[in-house]
Amino acid sequence: MDLSGTVALVTGASSGIGEATARALADEGCEVVLAARRETRLETIANEIGRERAHPVPTDVTKESEIEALVEETTETFGGIDVLVASAGVLVMEPTAEQSRADLRRQVEVNLLGLMNVTHAVLPSMLDSGGGDIVAISSMNARNPAGGVYSATKFGVNGFCRGLRKEVSDAGVRVTTLMPGPVVTEMRDWEDWDGRALDPSEVAAAVVFAVTRPDHVTLLEFPVHSTDMVSQ
Ligand SMILES: NC(=O)c1ccc[n+]([C@@H]2O[C@H](COP(=O)([O-])OP(=O)(O)OC[C@H]3O[C@@H](n4cnc5c(N)ncnc54)[C@H](OP(=O)(O)O)[C@@H]3O)[C@@H](O)[C@H]2O)c1
Repeated sequence: MDLSGTVALVTGASSGIGEATARALADEGCEVVLAARRETRLETIANEIGRERAHPVPTDVTKESEIEALVEETTETFGGIDVLVASAGVLVMEPTAEQSRADLRRQVEVNLLGLMNVTHAVLPSMLDSGGGDIVAISSMNARNPAGGVYSATKFGVNGFCRGLRKEVSDAGVRVTTLMPGPVVTEMRDWEDWDGRALDPSEVAAAVVFAVTRPDHVTLLEFPVHSTDMVSQ
């Protein structure tokens, strides 16, 4: 499926998987709206992609007013949103007992509530226009937990997507949950791990694959894992 002329909104687009996904979708012909907090990073990435195709909109997904402004600006400028990729996320590595309550709250507010709020804001336009793609970047932690709080947010993402899929599939909205294994990004460099972690572009390619399937094909919930981790 050709993505030319479609509009993709990517959260967490200032680095890592979100950035790589924005670049990959632009390469496929999408207009991409890049959302994250770091304005300078977004501007640089948008300039590199090309301003005729890439549109930075600084947004904090923990702030409902900023989410509303992001979705309003995107739908007013482009007339709708065909693809949402929700990649914004934070990870606090310390064990739960060593995290502060603020750490707990921040991970839930970005990884789960932020993702649900952005999805909630985008849904009316997708439902009105007869469909679209929602791709949630979850984690293999939703299958094999490695730390309580972060894993809880990713189990939440998977649960939200499973339920949402039942609500909106008949209306043409395809909900895909992608569960990366280890990926080298600012979130984690994986230098402490004896294996080959993925490049963000390898996850981005899976996003492109998911949203370019024919309308009647859905990948539902799928991992993109490192073979090294599978064998350990
Ligand atoms: N790296 C891995 O091994 C791995 C594995 C499985 C799943 N994941 C998931 O992949 C997703 C992307 O992570 P990554 O590995 O690409 O890490 P990353 O490079 O640190 O990217 C995280 C992104 O989230 C954005 N973000 C954080 N807080 C935000 C907020 N309040 N509002 C808006 N944007 C916010 C960051 O941008 P700003 O700081 O500019 O806001 C950044 O663009 C996350 O959901 C993560 O849980 C990562």
